[in-house]
Amino acid sequence: MRTGLELLGYIVGEAKPYRATFVALRPPQLGEYVYMEYSGYSVVGLVESSITGSTVLTEDLRFPDDIERIVSNIRGNERMLYYRGSIRILGDADELKIPPVSPTPGTRVWKAPSEVLEKMFAPRIDRWVRVGVLLRAPNVEAKVDINKVVTRHLAILAKTGMGKSNLVALLAKRIADKGGTIIIFDYHGEYKTIRSREVVINVISPRLNPKNVSFDELARIIGIRPNATRQRALLKECKEYIDSSDVKTSEEYLQRLKHCLRTRSSPAGRDVGEKVLELLEAHEKTLQRLLGNVVGDVLDRVVLGAINVVDLSELRSYQADAIIAHWIQRVLEDRKLAEWSKRQGLKHSAKLLHPVVLVIEEAHVFISSTTETASKYQAELIVREGRKFGVGLIIVSQRPRGLDPNILSQIGSLAVLRIVHPEDQMYIAKHCEPATQELMEQLPGLNVGEAILVGEWVRVPTVAKIDLVEEKVFGADIDAVSEWTKTKHITELTPEINDYIPPPP
Ligand SMILES: Nc1ncnc2c1ncn2[C@@H]1O[C@H](COP(=O)(O)OP(=O)(O)O)[C@@H](O)[C@H]1O
Ligand SMILES: [Mg+2]
Repeated sequence: MRTGLELLGYIVGEAKPYRATFVALRPPQLGEYVYMEYSGYSVVGLVESSITGSTVLTEDLRFPDDIERIVSNIRGNERMLYYRGSIRILGDADELKIPPVSPTPGTRVWKAPSEVLEKMFAPRIDRWVRVGVLLRAPNVEAKVDINKVVTRHLAILAKTGMGKSNLVALLAKRIADKGGTIIIFDYHGEYKTIRSREVVINVISPRLNPKNVSFDELARIIGIRPNATRQRALLKECKEYIDSSDVKTSEEYLQRLKHCLRTRSSPAGRDVGEKVLELLEAHEKTLQRLLGNVVGDVLDRVVLGAINVVDLSELRSYQADAIIAHWIQRVLEDRKLAEWSKRQGLKHSAKLLHPVVLVIEEAHVFISSTTETASKYQAELIVREGRKFGVGLIIVSQRPRGLDPNILSQIGSLAVLRIVHPEDQMYIAKHCEPATQELMEQLPGLNVGEAILVGEWVRVPTVAKIDLVEEKVFGADIDAVSEWTKTKHITELTPEINDYIPPPP
């Protein structure tokens, strides 16, 4: 029997090989790891829920005076409260295999010793990287297998402001530290301000060569609706015509496109051309910014071994969608070429010479359960076949129930931070295989930066406090009151606009 460990309590009631309840000497905490010995096995478990109750102060008491009297009559060592915890059995301390027998009632439950936890959560293997410490045992590091992010993908889910982007920044740093390449699609422009002495941050403006843009991407950029088939057909016809001719600059490209739309009479009538032209002109400024003749392929601007940030902050969501889809498609094509050529021993011109990780923030917009976006189609290709070619996908969302269930179900690992909405919790438990309902129910109890990591990138469910990336300037909430106070004198100087005209009687 172990000595020198903190005794937490005893197993009671009916236990199963993978789940048991214990009565505790003090309130057990969600995320605590426990240690037990039974039937010749040394076993580690995770406290998944914790209850405090009283056999004396019961719910049928009606009057505060009664409670007052009971509390004041309790003598020194008489117990008024009891504590219970439910344990998910994670496996034996060596191989993490779940023993075929249940713990017998009366089995002692100890706090798991650090050396056992270190073996489970912080293997000293190169592909395991630190993301923080265990929430209830902060002297033990929490590590993840970063290889599994590339081969089995990852979803980071939580309410706004709980630390999703911080975790993305941290993983990006860890990947770049290892010499890996990560490409973040930065819809809010929050990653381009990261400064780091240790890793290279390469900010990329979202420019595309008009000839490399597909007709569908162009249609999305100017906002032609997917069901406007005649408008799409006309745009396709004009684009193909111009692509086949020799155009030098993107200004010339746009001029020719406009000319074509004005003059080519669609069999469906002139108004179709006019409508497309109208959309094109409404988006002309964006197009001028997006299209650049000097830019070749988007992959030419990726720096290997760096954090690449594609700045989408000035775009509308349907335009960002087209850009993300364009990038994913190019990344997949290029990685396929690289891997095929490598296997056949052929020379090749691929640019992404090693596996890459892509990050899509606001994934409920781009990989939505209800809208057919271009990125969703491409993301599906990654989760299906990315692992063969070394393309990993990280999706980040504050609205899990808006995510495409098909893609979500193929994501192998999860980091969930605080989530309050029960519908979100249920959705995750239903569509993400590594998440259990019991664990998801604990999510409202987490604070900022506290996460539950499950799935293939950890050996057992890990309740961790994630490291804060100091270099990241956060998308913190605006402090409205302090900004109002700063500009108060300006509004006070213009009293005439405050004249109040009463409404007519
Ligand atoms: N691991 C952490 N430890 C401490 N504070 C954190 C941690 N992660 C995030 N924060 C704090 O929470 C704020 C919001 O974090 P952020 O990652 O931008 O959240 P989200 O992307 O989920 O909206 C940050 O400004 C930071 O101060
Ligand atoms: Mg964020």
